[in-house]
Amino acid sequence: MEKIKLNTKKAEQFLKAGAVEGFEEKVKKAQEALENATCEGNDFLGWLHLPSEISADFIAELQQCADTLRSNCEAIVVAGIGGSYLGAKAVIEALSNSFQWLVNDGSNPTILFAGNNIGEDYLSELTAYLKGKKFGVINISKSGTTTETALTFRLLKKQCEEQRGKEEAKKVIVAITDAKKGAARAAATKEGYKTFVIPDNVGGRFSVLTPVGLLPIACAGFDIKKLVEGAVEMEKACDINVPFAENPAAQYAAVRNGLYQEVGKKIEIMVNYQPKLHFFSEWWKQLYGESEGKEGKGIFPASCDFTTDLHSMGQWIQEGERTIYETVISIEKPNRELLFPNDEDNLDGLNFLVGKRVDEVNKMAELGTRLAHIDGGVPNIHISVPKLDEYYIGQLIYFFEKACGISGLLLEVNPFNQPGVEAYKRNMFALLDKPGYEEDSKAIKKRLAEEA
Ligand code: PA5
Repeated sequence: MEKIKLNTKKAEQFLKAGAVEGFEEKVKKAQEALENATCEGNDFLGWLHLPSEISADFIAELQQCADTLRSNCEAIVVAGIGGSYLGAKAVIEALSNSFQWLVNDGSNPTILFAGNNIGEDYLSELTAYLKGKKFGVINISKSGTTTETALTFRLLKKQCEEQRGKEEAKKVIVAITDAKKGAARAAATKEGYKTFVIPDNVGGRFSVLTPVGLLPIACAGFDIKKLVEGAVEMEKACDINVPFAENPAAQYAAVRNGLYQEVGKKIEIMVNYQPKLHFFSEWWKQLYGESEGKEGKGIFPASCDFTTDLHSMGQWIQEGERTIYETVISIEKPNRELLFPNDEDNLDGLNFLVGKRVDEVNKMAELGTRLAHIDGGVPNIHISVPKLDEYYIGQLIYFFEKACGISGLLLEVNPFNQPGVEAYKRNMFALLDKPGYEEDSKAIKKRLAEEA
């Protein structure tokens, strides 16, 4: 099988000669620190060799659970937020028919995502949609206490039990959570739900290859064995023993740090030319944003869907502040074939394209954009993916995870914590008068009164 290919030449031309090689020693140290678990955050390294540790029996257990849900549900709601939903959402969107809502012939349940916001309209509309439907729930929360997910689970559990009866509901509610603690675990134990454990040593944003991602992906009808095989392939390709120049994760980590530290490129834009990859960029943004944005440092992870966003962000990218670079995920071959149609009147003047694959036009848009943006001072990292399927998405996932671990260590931060995400929660709980937050409540209310 082929591998995804990384090409950093058009980024390196913006750096001094030898700049990337200059990172070799630091990259080696970062890799050793990951392997020997001597880096900060070393209790969260369970993702490092996770792909090769996933057994066939475990895949079979997940598949069996997915099959039960698939045969008993018209719709399955995946309740989770952040790392507890983005991986599954990214893979399912990338592999699904873009019009799955309309073309679903009933052979697959509709997979819905909730618990990732507190929108009253969203939740009301969701519960209205599920009314009278045979639906199941996958409740995903490592801590088991996340407000968005807990609220959603309360609503859905009640509705599922009312619509299917308590006994039937038990068969179609699954919890993916901590082995022992948290409300999700307590509810699962009390009600007797099927459960899967999120390993202690795997953080949310690195958890897509645990049941957090694998179960929803299997429920959507995709081949999780192939996904894991792809990740295993990349685990080998990015191994510490692979020479620096041939190791894609090492190269990507070095180049992006070179751009950031040496020429002030502070924003990385993840670009795709396939709308199905929109949520893959969202997953990547969380992975890199939460891992690197701390201690006043970190490349800002942004994303664009091209060519769509060339008509909105293209101007900024071409001529705005020169603090950006692009990483393009390019799919070599589409899964379907469509030719540019003839039009006798040729009013749009596009008959010169008649008979060409639509993808050829897309590829020329990609190439033209690359050249223009490079001319405009935007370094370009290129990742070529043979096709959009489970195997290559598995490769992409592991590649970005490994590079993220190395890159965060090059930046000299702990890539595996996220202390900053607690600040808003503390304020929210204080404002909502959560028991235990009395002192914060007083302080925040005083502050708001003074600022009014
Ligand atoms: O990466 C992370 O750790 C976070 O994004 C979490 O996944 C997110 O906050 C959800 O947390 P939990 O799974 O505990 O509900």
